Amino acid sequence: MLVPHLDKAKRRTKNEVKVRKYKMAKDLKNLGLGKSYFIKTYGCQMNVHDSENIKAILEDMSFKEAESMEVADLILLNTCAIRENAHNKVFGMIGRLKHMKEERPNLITGICGCMAQEEIVVDEILKKYSFLDVVFGTHNIDELPEILNKAIHNKKIEVDVYSCEGDIIEDMPVKRDSKYKAWVNIMYGCDKFCTYCIVPYTRGKQRSRRFEDIIKEVQSLKEEGYKEVTLLGQNVNAYGKDLGLEYDMGDLLEAVAKTGVERVRFVTSHHWDFTDKMIEVIGKYPNIMPYIHLPLQSGSNRILKLMGRRYTKESYLELFDKIKRLVPNVSITTDIIVGFPGESEEDFLDTLEVVKACKYDSAFTFIFSPREGTPAAKMKDDTPLSVKEERLHRLNELVNKYALEANQKYLGKVVPVLLENVSEKNSDMLAGYTDTMKLVNVKASKEKLGEIVLVKITDVKTWSMDGEIA
Ligand code: SAH
Ligand code: SF4
Ligand code: F3S
Repeated sequence: MLVPHLDKAKRRTKNEVKVRKYKMAKDLKNLGLGKSYFIKTYGCQMNVHDSENIKAILEDMSFKEAESMEVADLILLNTCAIRENAHNKVFGMIGRLKHMKEERPNLITGICGCMAQEEIVVDEILKKYSFLDVVFGTHNIDELPEILNKAIHNKKIEVDVYSCEGDIIEDMPVKRDSKYKAWVNIMYGCDKFCTYCIVPYTRGKQRSRRFEDIIKEVQSLKEEGYKEVTLLGQNVNAYGKDLGLEYDMGDLLEAVAKTGVERVRFVTSHHWDFTDKMIEVIGKYPNIMPYIHLPLQSGSNRILKLMGRRYTKESYLELFDKIKRLVPNVSITTDIIVGFPGESEEDFLDTLEVVKACKYDSAFTFIFSPREGTPAAKMKDDTPLSVKEERLHRLNELVNKYALEANQKYLGKVVPVLLENVSEKNSDMLAGYTDTMKLVNVKASKEKLGEIVLVKITDVKTWSMDGEIA
């Protein structure tokens, strides 16, 4: 048993990050024979992609994917710790698992992901939910076969979570959710330690993947017929800084663009490491999509400082304008937190001012949620929840107004769309995204799935558009 420790998770070691290859013990190849698995994924793209790795590892052990939780022999929850409501949803689901296990005693259950990295969560699980079979973290996904094997043989909960970051594991198997677009990790962890954020504790120190491993993965995705790759990291702009090498995110983006893969995206950008070189490269290569997610978090310099974001409203606006000027047709979205401890009405109005200046294409907005162990959780917070909710409401009204206005500019225009799914709202339509990351429902037959087609926009709403093939 290895349980997580908050103090260890906070520390940053100077240990060299090792790169090793995934290898599964041969004697575990048949552990899942005749059994099925179901993974429920919460949280960000990083978790979505981790689940794609976990699925492939389970299939390496001969498990088959189940249609639903109700019929699965193994259920894993890949969890997110970012806000209280994500946390509560998972505990609600653990409660459901308990009932399922009472009805199906042979059911194997477990949790992994960011909540598994939290000391308080694992404490609570050991006290109240020890019916679970496995708990493993974000640093040892590759050890899943051994962990499952131990749990099955010992018939008791197996907890294996490292608080110190693990190695970088190359050649992990992956079962991708899409045949057309793929996630590619370029770095793990985060060293920014924004004062509200749990991620540096749950994902460990920043570790960049080797340049050549990333390019090799993108090249093989292209050869397999993937149309789009999204480079993933909590703070992709800082790519390479920990490697102490010559190249940075600008160089990496350029090299990925030169593989000729049709669409290149990247998330998430932090203002701090956004270089002019990056902007130039994004503007120069037509296969780097003109779409940037640039979290603002707050428009008040006082709050930005308390958040530890290391930029000001002025420098953010300057960068925003530069990107708009130098990247033709770019769309920019953002994340905003309201009700950070001590946020006054005046601070909040500063945020609204920035939103008015930037007229974002869209924004994800959140009420501050205190996370155990982060500095902001200890800050004095005397704003009532009702005031925070009212601020969120005002912010959303403004965000939605600009989102609709941004979409209205597309009416009647012809834009490229990668058709990737059958539309959720109408099974006779396909859905996909424009180069600028706008969701479009298109009248088209299923043979067109996986193609990038030109679409004429016929109708626009706040969150999506309709169109027909031009
Ligand atoms: N690495 C990204 C963000 C990852 S988390 C970045 O630096 O921008 C996604 C978003 O969740 C954040 O941008 C932030 O807006 C929000 N978030 C993170 N911690 C939060 C907290 N404690 N309460 C409310 N929102 C939070
Ligand atoms: Fe969290 Fe800040 Fe790192 Fe983003 S940059 S993951 S908000 S600590
Ligand atoms: Fe959540 Fe972990 Fe992502 S906390 S947002 S799943 S990095």
